[in-house]
Amino acid sequence: MITFDEPTGIFHLQGKQTSYFIQKNEQNHLFHLYWGSRLEKRLPDYVLKEIKRASYIADADHITEYKLERLPQEYPAFGNSDLRKPAYQLTFQNGTRISDFRYVSHKILEGKPELEGLPSLRESDDCQTLKIQLHDSYQNLDMTLFYTLYEEGDIITRHVELENVGEDAVEINQLNSACVELPTSDLDLLHLSGSWARENGIQRTPLSQLNYRVESTRGSSSHEHNPFIALVEKETTETTGSVYSMNLVYSGNFEATVDVEMQDAVRMQIGINSSLFDWQLNASETFVSPEAVLVYSQNGLQELTHKYHNAYQEHLLPPKFAKEVRPVLVNSWEACYFDLQEESLLELAQTSKDLGVELFVLDDGWFGHRDDTSSSLGDWFVDQKKFPQGLEPFIRQIKQLGLDFGIWVEPEMISEDSELYRQHPDWCIEVPGRLKSYSRGQFVLDLANTAVQDYLIATLTELVQRYDIDYVKWDMNRSMTEPGSNVLTSIQQKEFYHRYMLGLYRVLDQVTQTFPDILFENCAGGGGRFDAGMMYYMPQTWTSDDTDAIERLSIQEGTGLIYPAITMGAHVSQVPNHQIGRVTPLKTRGVVAMQGNFGYEMDLSKLPAEEKVEIKEQIQQFKAIRSTVQLGKFYRLAVPVRDNAKAWLFVDDQQVVISYVQIHAKPNSPSKRLKLTGLSANTLYQLPTGEKRYGDELMAFGVAIDVVKEDFYSQQWILKKLEEA
Ligand code: DGJ
Repeated sequence: MITFDEPTGIFHLQGKQTSYFIQKNEQNHLFHLYWGSRLEKRLPDYVLKEIKRASYIADADHITEYKLERLPQEYPAFGNSDLRKPAYQLTFQNGTRISDFRYVSHKILEGKPELEGLPSLRESDDCQTLKIQLHDSYQNLDMTLFYTLYEEGDIITRHVELENVGEDAVEINQLNSACVELPTSDLDLLHLSGSWARENGIQRTPLSQLNYRVESTRGSSSHEHNPFIALVEKETTETTGSVYSMNLVYSGNFEATVDVEMQDAVRMQIGINSSLFDWQLNASETFVSPEAVLVYSQNGLQELTHKYHNAYQEHLLPPKFAKEVRPVLVNSWEACYFDLQEESLLELAQTSKDLGVELFVLDDGWFGHRDDTSSSLGDWFVDQKKFPQGLEPFIRQIKQLGLDFGIWVEPEMISEDSELYRQHPDWCIEVPGRLKSYSRGQFVLDLANTAVQDYLIATLTELVQRYDIDYVKWDMNRSMTEPGSNVLTSIQQKEFYHRYMLGLYRVLDQVTQTFPDILFENCAGGGGRFDAGMMYYMPQTWTSDDTDAIERLSIQEGTGLIYPAITMGAHVSQVPNHQIGRVTPLKTRGVVAMQGNFGYEMDLSKLPAEEKVEIKEQIQQFKAIRSTVQLGKFYRLAVPVRDNAKAWLFVDDQQVVISYVQIHAKPNSPSKRLKLTGLSANTLYQLPTGEKRYGDELMAFGVAIDVVKEDFYSQQWILKKLEEA
């Protein structure tokens, strides 16, 4: 529930377990009072008054000792009695940069307004929205702070809109989506970082008096950092400690910053990356910031994970697919790369069908004359050399086998050697007159150009309409360099990156709305754009180009910290692994891939008979646990051999699926046990051996791990739920 108390000026956003307080004072400034566990009895109207901090800063509004820098601000400006890191910065026509927004009015609405042109969490029955309107009278600007509380889900979404109600244009240099101030820096910063093929490693760093910045400057949310940031109490574990976090629903350059100020308070913020962004706001125009999702957990990382997973499955993923189990697929990429031959592909499809696969995906190489990365992106017509009769008969045969059919595209890219480039050489991202760099032999199409957007919408619509397609893998395989557009004015060039994102979202919106029944998979060289923005349009993402089972342990753990299993593509691939050369047992590759949307990335038709038998059993096993993995609840388990193993568990009404992977065997090791969590204490469960145990026993003693005598060892248990005592 959201309430406003007139006498104290306090807004209370009260979720199921969380409270968030904002206070407005007589000067109409807004202060951030609190974000933490739920309060019920009274409003904390004494907190601001009791803040005592020395400050060298000037008095605000000529009121003696009224200093904004001493006080926790809700959405701070720079330069008026507060010189800390601001939430926004504007430049006016006279060249000055000081603004002063004050509270004017507010509204509490049922439901949630949509963000124009941007992805955001969808409205639900349990949400209410607070709109606080601020005004800068000197410049005649309106700023609206939006807060939506999902009461049951216990999360808050925030964004900001700036409207130019005056006559002069204003330049926006920064407009963060959310800012929160915490009173102490005795915290750790937690974020997800890595690189291509090594995405989303969990990093944890103790704070000191510094400015921290987690960001992307690559034109996509990036492999380097995910648009997520959290501050956690020092002693935080899976089940204890407070966690304050923000995730941006945005797929482009972002920044997430933490600034520890000289007197120990901390500002945590998230928004568009201000170092690569300026936006001219003309009279009567409104700028809408992306949305930030704010999640607080008072019970450690497990609760944080559950709140994000629940929010994204309930309110972010396209509703048609949010709760629909995903097909087991085979993908041609690591099986044959560009060497696509109709006959062997059909053989692969036939074997895959025999083993239980449900969807055949034709990856890169089917179009133009693409035999390597040097050509044809943009030419989305079939390569007659590889498919002499066209794609229709090939797809027909796939369908006759009883498989669904999926196709790979990389719509945002263009090869110099393509019909499209020959027709429209000016459609690339480039700075006119400067060299544009190749990456993977390709350039990026300028999605800030409406003509390019229209062309993509028309081309993709035609492609999907023409063929009998069930699934589209939408790839994106390079960072944006030499950012610039041939159609933008000199002022608009500074807006390029964000205009690209708005263009991309327009294309995604139209294409996915036209084909609501097609399953779209997001990919950017694996997890280069694994973010909540893309998830709004595409319900699953290829987690990483690294398919090695052991590397995937930490990639999937980091990704799964906030993104649900049903969004993560995870495939079994060949050994030695194509990315790092490691040889792992087929069983372990299967157990690890069963943590998401399961599939194969290998030529199943060429395997020895005994491996085919094992794969058939693996697929049967996955189908038996699929709905528990994709629709159930996920828990990370503490392992008895730290740093050498990972274990996790999925549970629903029917069963519990437990997976354990140990990286290295150690000599002379005793047998160990794996304690379970998330079970109901009084329920009786049946082990794979037929033995029965109560939930409380399983949570106290766990299940027995076999003595491990090989590297890359794995074990999986399925416990059937029998009855409540
Ligand atoms: C990068 C993707 O992550 C791979 O799965 C594959 O689709 C290739 N691109 C194809 O070029």
